[in-house]
Amino acid sequence: MIANLLKELPRALGRYVAYQASRVMPGGKKMGDAAAPPRPNHATGEHRTDDGDIGLDPSYERLVAWPTYRRKEPPPEVVSQPLYGIWNKSPGGHKWPHYFAAYEAVFGPNRTKPLRIMEIGVLEGASLRMWKEYFSHPDTVIVGIDIEPNCIRYDAPSKGIRVRIGSQTDGSFLKSVTEEFGPFDLIIDDGSHRSSHIIKSFNHLFADALKDSGIYLVEDLHANYWSGWRDSHKTILDVCKEIVEHMHAHYRRAPAEAFLVADPDQQRFDTLDVPVIATMIEEIRFFDSIIAIQKTRRAYVPHYMLSG
Ligand SMILES: C[S@@+](CC[C@H](N)C(=O)[O-])C[C@H]1O[C@@H](n2cnc3c(N)ncnc32)[C@H](O)[C@@H]1O
Repeated sequence: MIANLLKELPRALGRYVAYQASRVMPGGKKMGDAAAPPRPNHATGEHRTDDGDIGLDPSYERLVAWPTYRRKEPPPEVVSQPLYGIWNKSPGGHKWPHYFAAYEAVFGPNRTKPLRIMEIGVLEGASLRMWKEYFSHPDTVIVGIDIEPNCIRYDAPSKGIRVRIGSQTDGSFLKSVTEEFGPFDLIIDDGSHRSSHIIKSFNHLFADALKDSGIYLVEDLHANYWSGWRDSHKTILDVCKEIVEHMHAHYRRAPAEAFLVADPDQQRFDTLDVPVIATMIEEIRFFDSIIAIQKTRRAYVPHYMLSG
């Protein structure tokens, strides 16, 4: 036992010294009293931790019996959604009812603005009609693309609905649609639902076809979990998890001391090299089977301030 205690002593001392050091900023300023978080190793990107495999408590993963609600009329919280009302009167639509609340949360604030919207996947035109009614500004244009040539019959310039035929994986087709109608405020991927197609479309469209203030939404992500649609190792959910890490890339490029500088004259760096996607993401929202990525143009590395 004494041997074990002696073995632990240097590590405990090291932790104490690291903790005290982390409380004092360069220049002698105190940081708060909160216990020091694990400190990143800037060489390897790994975190030093003594917590073993700390993670989600298994009690959150215990199985519970989850009831279904499969009736002709959806539950009241769905029926009360404005989009459900619009969609339900347009024949030929296929939707999961819980999507309407997610659409409202993501698109609601922009509903009445003049918008340019691209939707991948036209089918029978039901969602094109739904979006045209929901986004109420008369100058809003909805552009549907589909690989199926018959979908051209839903092209209706006088109604602000346009359709172009081509594949969501074809970069030059997407570029030509963007040159004709874009850049877009919203891009909605309700196309083939193949995991590789979703990622290819995102890669082609996010940087150049979507405005800096735009939103990129992908739906039916449940298909990523089913073999008929899963045709790639990674899914867009994996890509989004990577993007979440890129959003925080700058914190791996420099230690805490370089950020936690209250006096602007003591600034420790003028620029940091980060993946460009880190400067393009405002927010990523994960819903059941839907992701919505809010694009932005982040002009500066975030900085730290003291009030007063
Ligand atoms: C789920 S349906 C679209 C439903 C429609 N958005 C709605 O809610 O009424 C999917 C559509 O994607 C189209 N599609 C399949 N593969 C495609 C591809 N590679 N590029 C573009 N569209 C594709 C299909 O032809 C089909 O019409």
